[in-house]
Amino acid sequence: MSIIFKNNTFYLSSDNTSYVIGIEDDKLSTYYWGKRIPEENIEYYTKNLYATWAFNKDLTPQEFPEYATGDYKNPVIEIELPDGSSVTDFRYKTHNIMKGKPDLPQLPHTYCNEDADADSLDIYLQDAVYDITAVIHYSVFKCGAITKSVTLCNGLETGIRINRIASASFDMFNDNYQIVSLHGAWSRERHFYKHQLQKGIYSFGSNRGTSSHNVNPFFALASQNADENHGDVYAFNMVYSGNFEAAVELNPWNVIRAQIGMNPFEFSWKLEKGESFNTPETVMVFSADGFNGMSGIYHSLYRNNLCRGKYKLSPRPILINNWEATYFDFDENKLMKIAEKAKSIGVELFVLDDGWFGKRNDDKSSLGDWQVNTEKLPSGLDGIASKLNSLGLKFGLWIEPEMISPDSKLYEEHPDWCLHVPQRERSQQRFQLVLDLSRREICDYITDAVSKILESANISYIKWDMNRYMTEVYSVSLPKDRQKEVSHRYVLGLYGIMERLTSRFPDILFEGCSGGGGRFDPGMLYYMPQIWTSDDTDAYERMHIQYGTSMVYPISTMGCHVSAVPNHQTGRTTPLKTRGEVSMSGNFGYELDLSKCSEDELKEMRRQIEFYKENRTLIQFGRYYRIMSPFESNYAIWQFVSEDKKESLVFAFKKLNETNKTAIRFRLLGLDGKYKYKMVQNGMVLSGEVLMNVGVVFPDNMGDYESCVMKFVAEN
Ligand code: GLA
Repeated sequence: MSIIFKNNTFYLSSDNTSYVIGIEDDKLSTYYWGKRIPEENIEYYTKNLYATWAFNKDLTPQEFPEYATGDYKNPVIEIELPDGSSVTDFRYKTHNIMKGKPDLPQLPHTYCNEDADADSLDIYLQDAVYDITAVIHYSVFKCGAITKSVTLCNGLETGIRINRIASASFDMFNDNYQIVSLHGAWSRERHFYKHQLQKGIYSFGSNRGTSSHNVNPFFALASQNADENHGDVYAFNMVYSGNFEAAVELNPWNVIRAQIGMNPFEFSWKLEKGESFNTPETVMVFSADGFNGMSGIYHSLYRNNLCRGKYKLSPRPILINNWEATYFDFDENKLMKIAEKAKSIGVELFVLDDGWFGKRNDDKSSLGDWQVNTEKLPSGLDGIASKLNSLGLKFGLWIEPEMISPDSKLYEEHPDWCLHVPQRERSQQRFQLVLDLSRREICDYITDAVSKILESANISYIKWDMNRYMTEVYSVSLPKDRQKEVSHRYVLGLYGIMERLTSRFPDILFEGCSGGGGRFDPGMLYYMPQIWTSDDTDAYERMHIQYGTSMVYPISTMGCHVSAVPNHQTGRTTPLKTRGEVSMSGNFGYELDLSKCSEDELKEMRRQIEFYKENRTLIQFGRYYRIMSPFESNYAIWQFVSEDKKESLVFAFKKLNETNKTAIRFRLLGLDGKYKYKMVQNGMVLSGEVLMNVGVVFPDNMGDYESCVMKFVAEN
């Protein structure tokens, strides 16, 4: 990994990747991004490859594209200048190459554990007329990921307004690429979509205030032949939890511009004299080894250089959550009965979900009144925590601190604390409103209220929920010309709260949640190393959701629970074994009334937990490969391999049983061909070469939704 500057050209390289940027007439051109190339032949780019097109900015690949000087694709930036124009001309001024990676103030970002993890480059550009500077920040990590963000600084005596700013923009020639994205909806998050890139602009984004269930701040351009293990993939993932826009344009001359950044819809930011604005960062990954290659880089970077805190690389506890077991209808006795059974099968953490505070017996009230309901919990949080602790279980708690119920004491005291436009109706979703986190005093209140809860009992885990999108995005504390800053200020306020709380309570494991996986993005992972993947706990649905999520996000970030059948979201009945094995492919837990389970069911769960404990490190932190896609076949198959390649686990799931079909054979990935592996389930010994080339067969069991697990251990 290195950053070299020679012949007016920057070469950012890792073992497998090169990103090459040239300076021509003080403007930045993107020469190349892809498989590693040597730092030579620079004349080829300037005199041959791009020279013939230099007359036309629609053709030349630009590193910092601007508006109104002959390039008609989406610009990276659009600023309202003091003369009323938006015409900018940012030119190269200087640059700085650094070991390590500087912090990105106020925003979540990837970081180095030691300087040797990454090299960084800041390129300073200055407008030809006005004293406005744009700094493009790059880092190249050992694993091959490249991060990019922009800082805009106003050196003028007067204010300017940013109306559009992307965090990454990349131009290249089209090679018959396809676009990959992770679209979904509530209970159906992050499904894998792939389609042919067409002329024009394909864009998607969120204007809901959170990254949302419907879209994820991720997309990739993939070559025509790309599959899990082959083909070129160019991927972009923005480290941000609010509104964003991703856009891929294919112009008439076959040039692609791929961008991701702040969603310009309802966004603008006033930059006063001397102020600067930082965009969130985007993590760009190139893989010549298909989607598994891409995911391997994201997983390793996010685990080691994005997630933080005590739990970053520590085994995550197996939990029982009472939500699908009791919903709002519980008291201490009922919870303790579930807890006792949980302890008896080997669970480690009891999570008390919604309904423990105020007068909240349904979802119509009390958000904001974070005082324990002593009718349900007569001995308070401290009391139940002590009882659970004496039983040998840790205690975790659900909270939704960004919200306020109109039916709450907090709302009576502070009716103006929610996002709203005076005189207009306040749209409710799930009977609740959103607190205005663009206001410092409200962020302080939340930090304080949550701190008090955390100090009131022995709490080891927090599930931080956020159950609605934003409407009437307006803050009564901001002047009218700053209202389009509110949604970004909200996200900055939230990040500030989470930074304060996670550093004040470093021993607590925080799990993010937003009506399931409505805010499953790298921004959240910087503060909370795991996220509730989806409210849909049906094993069949989860095969898809977890497969899609794993494209970008490590297994250690996904919360996955076994729930009762018929499933509460789909009405489907799947075998307990399959439910267990789907959930074991993430941070494992249960979410059903264990006090109502039969002895046989409890016995099966005990077996699952024992197995998970034995294999937890391999699953949560091993190298993960997808083998067969539920989006393209009747099966979902994935595999975990330990770092030393001596252990591997395969989880295979069948959707529907098909009669009189050839048994499904699949090849393993990522093993050491020279090792001999013993298959634990049947004692057979096979070489890595055989397992990876000949493969194994999915046992031909009867029944729908069958699953099987195979473990392979290398013999000395
Ligand atoms: C959201 C979460 C659920 C549960 C409920 C409680 O929907 O995703 O897991 O916590 O809220 O109201």
